[in-house]
Amino acid sequence: MSLTPRILTQIAGTYGTPTYVYDLDRIKERYHYFQEAFPWPELTICYAMKANYNPSVLKTLHSLGAFIDAVSPGDLYMASACGFDISRIIYTANNMKDSEVDEVMKTGVLMNIGSLSRLGKYAVQYPGTRLCLRFNPDVVDGEHDKIKTGGDLTKFGILLEDLDKVLKIIKKYGLKIIGLHEHTGSGLIKPDSITNAMKNIMSVATKHNFPDLEFLDFGGGFKVPYGPDETETDYKRMGQDIIALFSDFCDAYGKKLGLYFEPGKFLTATAGCLLVEVNTIKTNRKKIICGTDSGFPQLIRPMFYDAYHRIENVSNPKDKKMEYDICGNICETGDLFAKSRKISRIREGDLLSINDAGAYGYAMGGVYNLRPMPAEVVIENGRVRLSRRRQTSQALVRSILKESTEGFSDPFNTPLDETGVQA
Ligand SMILES: Cc1ncc(COP(=O)(O)O)c(C=O)c1O
Repeated sequence: MSLTPRILTQIAGTYGTPTYVYDLDRIKERYHYFQEAFPWPELTICYAMKANYNPSVLKTLHSLGAFIDAVSPGDLYMASACGFDISRIIYTANNMKDSEVDEVMKTGVLMNIGSLSRLGKYAVQYPGTRLCLRFNPDVVDGEHDKIKTGGDLTKFGILLEDLDKVLKIIKKYGLKIIGLHEHTGSGLIKPDSITNAMKNIMSVATKHNFPDLEFLDFGGGFKVPYGPDETETDYKRMGQDIIALFSDFCDAYGKKLGLYFEPGKFLTATAGCLLVEVNTIKTNRKKIICGTDSGFPQLIRPMFYDAYHRIENVSNPKDKKMEYDICGNICETGDLFAKSRKISRIREGDLLSINDAGAYGYAMGGVYNLRPMPAEVVIENGRVRLSRRRQTSQALVRSILKESTEGFSDPFNTPLDETGVQA
């Protein structure tokens, strides 16, 4: 792992804090590990770019041959800008409106539809086209209720029992279904979830129902060990079961189909960290509160999902461990990165690394309290480079005022370039 205290200290010194750091070599390692764990000749890794859409990350995955799981027109345009040909993207958005479908269809991307309502409307507008269908795997799993996507209590996918209705629409409008898709949840905990979901999808994926299949896509959800007691899943072992199952299915189907997965966290989570600086230590009777220069809009997982992120005191790693609440600079009580966490003694000015923040960190971020998002720095082949500049507060406000239809007086004297980034 190249995110060593020495390099992190150097990065903070050069680029300031808060700053996200991504180890691109680690992402490459994870990609190759995934390929090895699922040795299927027609394996396709569709990176779920919702996890981290940083252009350096996308370009790295592009160079490795990844495909993209895109969920919005923005994803589509960003992936294209980073070199992904449209044939390497699958579009799996939720609750699309007609104008979004039309916008996306103009690009020629493969659409993945997950509701009967949308399928019916799509079929009328785009008869005879190639399409992927998202079914609900009817398996409930995930590391938090908010990211379990299987089962009939969620909005995702067409229920398996609606197969007859699906087949009727397909037949009537001559749709060519080339792929079936499911995604069970993020951070799958139960050992059999993926294979159970696969079996459920395979049970409808017969030649009789879908004669034109080219691939089955079993989504993402591959867990990474965030917590102190969590260990890495043995994906090589899991891969053996999955390949055996899929191979039997292909034999029965009569064709070697593509095996698609959509890992997000698996590829990027452990490759990233958020560097923050401690600026305030407050001792409230027995509780020590450690205040940093970031906050939940920049890394929302702890507040949103009660997610655990390991935190290291980069500046003082070997001191006596003490218990802290590590909080941000936002005006919510829940603005915490960690509660009652034992960390090597923290002093004002210390640099903390919030680890395993490479997925659903920056990507879920926003500018609540009008605090601009952190800079993004990458490490590749031992070299550090700035990937995305930090937006200044002035540039952030300028970009909002530029879109505003209200008149306002310009509060700045600083010259800002067209994009709103300080020149
Ligand atoms: C359809 C789909 N595919 C893939 C993923 C990626 O999940 P993960 O990052 O857990 O691998 C998600 C995440 O929500 C998803 O909704």
